[in-house]
Amino acid sequence: MVPHTGPLLVLLPGLGAVATTFLAGVEAIRQGRVRPIGAFSQLGRIPLQEDGGEQPVPEVLPLAPLEALHFAAWDIFPDDAYEAARAAGVLQEQDLHALRDFLRQIRPMKAVFDRQYVRKLDGPHVKQGRTKRELAEALREDIRQAKAAIGAERAVMVWCASTEVYLELAPCHRSLRAFEQGLERNDPAIAPSQIYAYAALQEGIPYANATPNRAADIPALEELAELKGVPIAGKDLKTGQTLLKTVLAPALRMRLLGVQGWFSVNILGNRDGWVLDDEGSFRSKESTKSEVLDGILSPQLYPELYGELYHKVRIHYYPPRGDAKESWDVVDLVGWMGYPMQLRVNFSCRDSILAAPLVLDLVLFLDLAARAGWRGPQSWLSFYFKSPHVRPGEPVHHALAEQYQMLCRALQGLALRWRAAQQTLPQV
Ligand SMILES: NC(=O)c1ccc[n+]([C@@H]2O[C@H](COP(=O)([O-])OP(=O)(O)OC[C@H]3O[C@@H](n4cnc5c(N)ncnc54)[C@H](O)[C@@H]3O)[C@@H](O)[C@H]2O)c1
Repeated sequence: MVPHTGPLLVLLPGLGAVATTFLAGVEAIRQGRVRPIGAFSQLGRIPLQEDGGEQPVPEVLPLAPLEALHFAAWDIFPDDAYEAARAAGVLQEQDLHALRDFLRQIRPMKAVFDRQYVRKLDGPHVKQGRTKRELAEALREDIRQAKAAIGAERAVMVWCASTEVYLELAPCHRSLRAFEQGLERNDPAIAPSQIYAYAALQEGIPYANATPNRAADIPALEELAELKGVPIAGKDLKTGQTLLKTVLAPALRMRLLGVQGWFSVNILGNRDGWVLDDEGSFRSKESTKSEVLDGILSPQLYPELYGELYHKVRIHYYPPRGDAKESWDVVDLVGWMGYPMQLRVNFSCRDSILAAPLVLDLVLFLDLAARAGWRGPQSWLSFYFKSPHVRPGEPVHHALAEQYQMLCRALQGLALRWRAAQQTLPQV
């Protein structure tokens, strides 16, 4: 495994609530103001057999330290990260004020954007190009310049931009060749998120998709990731309601309680909520939020318990709440002798506060995976996503406990490998 040296550049398409909360948190941790709550890469422990106990992740893995992280972003609005964080309204003024100098330095580059894919937004800070191929080349040039500016040899991209409309798998997604032809002839099935992913992979940069739209999870970009030897992960961060769903549903299945209905509703009032008010963007979210229950309850194995399950997911834009999302789940259960029961869950959370530490973990773990030579979809990172991107034919695990074990096992393997490599180093 290649050790960490030098700076690591974090590339963020989308400088909104999630991205700015992530940036502010990293800097606040670096300044010693806050603890990295919620970040497994910082506070997690993994079992290492020989020691018979759990060891802190940062001590047993050669992760890039937070001091090594540098940042670059793209957005359709020119606001720097300080202004963008204020507009997002997640963090309080006094917290932002202390981080102002750092946040002010992060000014977004012009975005690759098209309203066709995010109908509710429009902004002035957008690249012009004759073809999607030209736009991809412009992003690659941005990436090279951002790396050169800080002397970085490594980078990781996390797509944190608005959710794009739902896209079916199209012919141009099926192979790298077809995709590149599609870029050339402006194929409408190629969304901006896919152009960013293509640019990152061409530059040999690991890519994670924090949002529900289809990005690197198409055969063309899986092919490119394999070809370039780059790890990819996605999609749609598992933060609030779905996190709890993937804890509760396995418990109900283990007890063999029937589930007739699961009604999930959310209200949120941030820009993400505004974008998801569009039917096309909502459809992307609906697809990633909806698939988890089937994966966990296996109605094909238990048709009498789960065959009739009615699963309904709704998201409502409700401005007074801002980023403080509230979700309700009502589950209609069936027990012994067919008697009905109900379970209610009400989570008043903060969307970006839950998402930010996951972005940090993904950056550090994807960088580590790349240094370990791992390529293509990283199913061990399923823990972070509503709709885990796995290799074709590989099973998808949705239950949080299973995902946690996969994560720990993979990190354990890397830690043992790292330790063995250290032991074979010549002693000075
Ligand atoms: N917060 C969570 O818990 C959570 C969980 C899962 C997924 N997500 C997803 O993460 C994404 C970001 O969420 P957010 O709350 O930060 O939203 P946001 O609206 O605050 O930020 C998104 C930013 O992306 C910009 N943008 C849109 N299209 C772009 C493009 N093509 N290139 C560059 N920038 C572009 C927008 O101008 C905006 O500033 C959303 O898609 C959301 O659905 C969030």
